[in-house]
Amino acid sequence: MKIAFVGKGGSGKTTLSSLFIRHLVADGGPVIAVDADINQHLGPALGLDETEAAGLPAMGDRLPLIKDYLRGSNPRVGSTETMIKTTPPGEGSRLLRVRENNPVYDACARPVELDGGAVRLMVTGPFTDADLGVSCYHSKTGAVELCLNHLVDGRDEYVVVDMTAGSDSFASGMFTRFDITFLVAEPTRKGVSVYRQYKEYARDFGVELKVVGNKVQGQDDVDFLRAEVGDDLLVTVGHSDWVRAMEKGRPPRFELLEDANRQALRLLRTTVDSAYETRDWERYTRQMVHFHLKNAESWGNARTGIDLAAQVDPGFVLGESLTASV
Ligand SMILES: Nc1ncnc2c1ncn2[C@@H]1O[C@H](COP(=O)(O)OP(=O)(O)OP(=O)(O)O)[C@@H](O)[C@H]1O
Ligand SMILES: [Mg+2]
Repeated sequence: MKIAFVGKGGSGKTTLSSLFIRHLVADGGPVIAVDADINQHLGPALGLDETEAAGLPAMGDRLPLIKDYLRGSNPRVGSTETMIKTTPPGEGSRLLRVRENNPVYDACARPVELDGGAVRLMVTGPFTDADLGVSCYHSKTGAVELCLNHLVDGRDEYVVVDMTAGSDSFASGMFTRFDITFLVAEPTRKGVSVYRQYKEYARDFGVELKVVGNKVQGQDDVDFLRAEVGDDLLVTVGHSDWVRAMEKGRPPRFELLEDANRQALRLLRTTVDSAYETRDWERYTRQMVHFHLKNAESWGNARTGIDLAAQVDPGFVLGESLTASV
């Protein structure tokens, strides 16, 4: 199951992603955590100190390796140079599974020990000015999108992405790659304006979007969010002393998390799990092709000098029946 946490800067994306990851790990689920946010804070939120977080391998720096592995023997993708972030898998491509070892995880993922188990953490690496804005060839999140497009994840397997709701994710199609998107919103006008923008982009793509209210202080805050986002409001989270203690560098054991917040995490999990029932691999594949053709036309063909539409394997549908690597 692929889950994104998005929202306005400072809304609590990283905090809620990290709590949800801890919750899934404590329940025993295999979890891959991906930090694709402009502010790379997921490592520290999972308990890494600054040196450890700074030492994490950046996916953005390992794009050639990622492309080379995923390309496999796909005859439609002639070289890693012509593989762009939206190049879809086809016959011969190598696919990723959540529970396996592979060269991509070896190069890009590091285990982080949490209460009750460990998570595999992957990070895009720090963003620079050049990474922001326009869809670009060397996009940092491109590495994540390629991995998601080559991932075959099943029930009870989780990939949690802490992500920016930036123009890059809308241009490339990244925002359509999830079983569910949790939009973290503070009860403020700015908080819900990001929701409106996301909803607008999401409308035509059947993106499953739920709002998680954060830093909610009372009924008035809940009423405000309900009035602004209606039934898209899934749950609200208040101030957490547990989170504050962790931020002070004194993380309590995870079982000491406040009851109300644990309930909220349980509800997120049930919501994710029920999204499995409406999964549609054909639509998922169709959408990656749609965004590939769009990116090919707008910049990819010009950049690579070839017609990237030829990379699309018309008979290919991603799905759980496919083997991990061909
Ligand atoms: N429910 C909460 N209880 C206590 N503190 C919280 C809560 N949610 C967020 N915070 C605090 O608010 C600050 C911002 O949260 P966080 O870093 O998770 O936001 P973000 O959306 O990831 O921000 P950025 O856009 O900078 O990545 C952090 O200091 C975090 O600890
Ligand atoms: Mg963050």
